[in-house]
Amino acid sequence: GYDISKLLAKTGDTTFDIGFANTAVCKSAITYIDGDAGVLQYRGYPIEQLAEKSTFLETSYLVLYGELPTTEQLADFTEKISRHMVIDERLRELFRIFPRKSHPMPVLSAAITALSTFSRDTIGFEPDTIEAATHQLMAKVPTLAAYSFKNSTGTPTLFPDYSLSYIENFIRMSFGTVTEPYQFDDTITRALDVLLILHADHEQNCSTSTVRLVGSSQANLYASVSAGVHALSGPLHGGANQAVLEMLKQIRDDGVTVQDYLDKVKNKSDHTKLMGFGHRIYKNYDPRAAIIKKHADAILKARGGSDQLLDIALELEEAALSDDYFVERKLYPNVDFYTGLIYQAMGFPVDMFTVLFALGRLPGWIAQWREMVADPTNKIGRPRQIYVGHTKRDYVPMNER
Ligand code: ACO
Repeated sequence: GYDISKLLAKTGDTTFDIGFANTAVCKSAITYIDGDAGVLQYRGYPIEQLAEKSTFLETSYLVLYGELPTTEQLADFTEKISRHMVIDERLRELFRIFPRKSHPMPVLSAAITALSTFSRDTIGFEPDTIEAATHQLMAKVPTLAAYSFKNSTGTPTLFPDYSLSYIENFIRMSFGTVTEPYQFDDTITRALDVLLILHADHEQNCSTSTVRLVGSSQANLYASVSAGVHALSGPLHGGANQAVLEMLKQIRDDGVTVQDYLDKVKNKSDHTKLMGFGHRIYKNYDPRAAIIKKHADAILKARGGSDQLLDIALELEEAALSDDYFVERKLYPNVDFYTGLIYQAMGFPVDMFTVLFALGRLPGWIAQWREMVADPTNKIGRPRQIYVGHTKRDYVPMNER
């Protein structure tokens, strides 16, 4: 009922931009997206090439420092991270206080906040301190993520193993037992590596903007990353991978047809969305979804034949892409449409899906925070508003209300 143009006239130069759909808040040299063409590049390198040829740690180095590492640089980075994977015993005890069935996302965020209290010498804005905090987070977040998972399954935690790679360590700490040596499946290890590469950064999305906004007050890197985890948890952002799998299961279990489900989405009466579809920036096929779709097929076949949920997903995609509602609104599968199916095939329960996203996005959050604090033109983030409340009125005593 408000006349926005009149309200705007009152606020002078303020731009009214709900959801920051048209507002650039920083300059960044990390990630380039052309949403109309379906292009994604980290530091100029196409995501397709990185997914095919790189590893998550190498891509993390690229995202963080701007160049692909030499052999020596990568070995040094890997060594610095391996050295810090173990967490303080008292921090490990923290996991015992959470209820057994806690969702691992709030547990992860709480653990990252707690980690900052054990890492006080890495809190600050000197280059060495920032570097040390970067290594601490890159090294310890996989351990914390695996322990959040172990807490949710009620099984004992494992120490990291220095002889293993970054991804292998995380897989072993998630699924390994204290009694048996862990048997790796190379297809699964590589698929997780690729999935994390695809999530490493995505410019000013909701969680990254949160990291920057929190950090703009000169809050430390741990506090900013912990806030990013919370922002990622929502179903319209990282939580969508969990929501997609739940949607596919609901379609299967309710026995509804794909067309009936799409009709319900289009009807909009109960606000049902086709989860894993649509994106603020991509008005074309999300390039990450295209890569993941190929892997989904291979992994599901390797893990035991056809998967009913993948069939439903493929059918949903085909029907949506030839439906006027989705075509007119340029709604295509996004990164989350197929990831959940792969994570499930790897043995992760749905509650862990968004934690895996957080693990992948970690280098991006850190790189964006570092870029921001290194920018001398940076200012504290402080949006404006259009006030639509009461005009001035006088206090009413209690007995007259
Ligand atoms: N299903 C059905 N309709 C949709 C969907 C969807 N998934 N997404 C958008 N629309 C419709 C909207 O209802 C709107 O229709 P209208 O013009 O008739 O009002 C139109 O498309 C434009 O959508 P907006 O909501 O304005 O688009 P916005 O850019 O604000 O939202 C978002 C983007 C949040 C991703 C949205 O597409 C969505 O909710 N998708 C489902 C959740 C999801 O998959 N999120 C993951 C995003 S990727 C990531 O975070 C990693």
